[in-house]
Amino acid sequence: MAHGPRHLSRSIANHRPYVPGKQPEIGEETVKLNTNENPYPPSPEIKNAILGELESLRLYPNSPSNELRECISGLHGLSAEQVIVGNGSDDLLNLCTRCFSDDNLKVGMLDPSYSLYEVVASLQGSTLIRIPFADDAFSVDPEAVIGSGANLFFITSPHAPSGREYSADCFRQILKEFEGIVVIDEAYADFAEQNALGLLDEFSNLVITRTMSKSYSLAGLRVGYALASPDLVSILDQAREVYNVDRLAQAAALASLRDRSYFEQTRDSILKERKKFASHLDEWGWKTCASGANFLFTRPVDSKGMTGREVATDLYDYLTSKNVLIRYFPQHELTSSYLRISIGNAGDMNILLETIIEWKTQEQL
Ligand SMILES: Cc1ncc(COP(=O)(O)O)c(C=O)c1O
Repeated sequence: MAHGPRHLSRSIANHRPYVPGKQPEIGEETVKLNTNENPYPPSPEIKNAILGELESLRLYPNSPSNELRECISGLHGLSAEQVIVGNGSDDLLNLCTRCFSDDNLKVGMLDPSYSLYEVVASLQGSTLIRIPFADDAFSVDPEAVIGSGANLFFITSPHAPSGREYSADCFRQILKEFEGIVVIDEAYADFAEQNALGLLDEFSNLVITRTMSKSYSLAGLRVGYALASPDLVSILDQAREVYNVDRLAQAAALASLRDRSYFEQTRDSILKERKKFASHLDEWGWKTCASGANFLFTRPVDSKGMTGREVATDLYDYLTSKNVLIRYFPQHELTSSYLRISIGNAGDMNILLETIIEWKTQEQL
């Protein structure tokens, strides 16, 4: 007997799935600057760590990822009870909606932000409240968040796609007055000057999520973690899939976290490339958000001095036709004139630079 739509749960029937950035086909040669991956390979230490686990793959992994929790807590000066590890930080964002939202408890987000928040809220059958930014520089109005009526609120800091950082003071005001759980998604915080870690001791309604996909070059491994009060962590733990982080992921993540010098070296190279590329954009007079992330969000200007949706689309299409992949978010008025460029290695950034210069010159012809 065929099973049709009438068998679907209400939340799945109404669900619109996440749309990831383009991943090239195997063998396709591209300069890939569209999904904020790290251009450098992960720490060389992971090789032996993974090989050392192979024989043990017949055994289930340690369910709570205890060794990783210990290591992460040491890194941030917290207790292991304040850490939970996930299958990428997406796993933890999903867990937060499982635990703190339902068809009565609403989810809030600043619009536009990371679009997965909408997806995990919809999977849970929760109503999503979109709070607009206070201005076109992506400023957050704490009062708007506090009065949103959400039970769970996601804030991305540094913000994606703009790269803007927010101060601990902005979050302090929200955390004091907001009557629900605040998730600060710090996927890009390793590239930033500020973070919200200092607020964990002050507020028991705060969850900070981090990922190893960006600053540790482990997007393909899927490891992220959340930091929160022991009470919140134990709630999240109850809803966690029992073996959510596999043996290879636990071993490789641990080896990467311990290799501090490699982490710092690759992060510094990315920061250097970010600064260098931002200075070209400045020279051209392209409005660019100050970035605390491994990407730049910039508004292209054409040869006639024009900006806007058509100019952004034209450059995006030109770069795509030359196999240089970056990201364009045409859906929102705050993003439709801008393009987001992930920071690659020096070679990739040079190809991007030359291709943009080509676009600028062929425009003038
Ligand atoms: C703001 C933000 N949060 C979370 C993630 C997902 O991270 P992970 O790979 O750990 O699931 C991304 C990935 O692009 C992101 O941009």
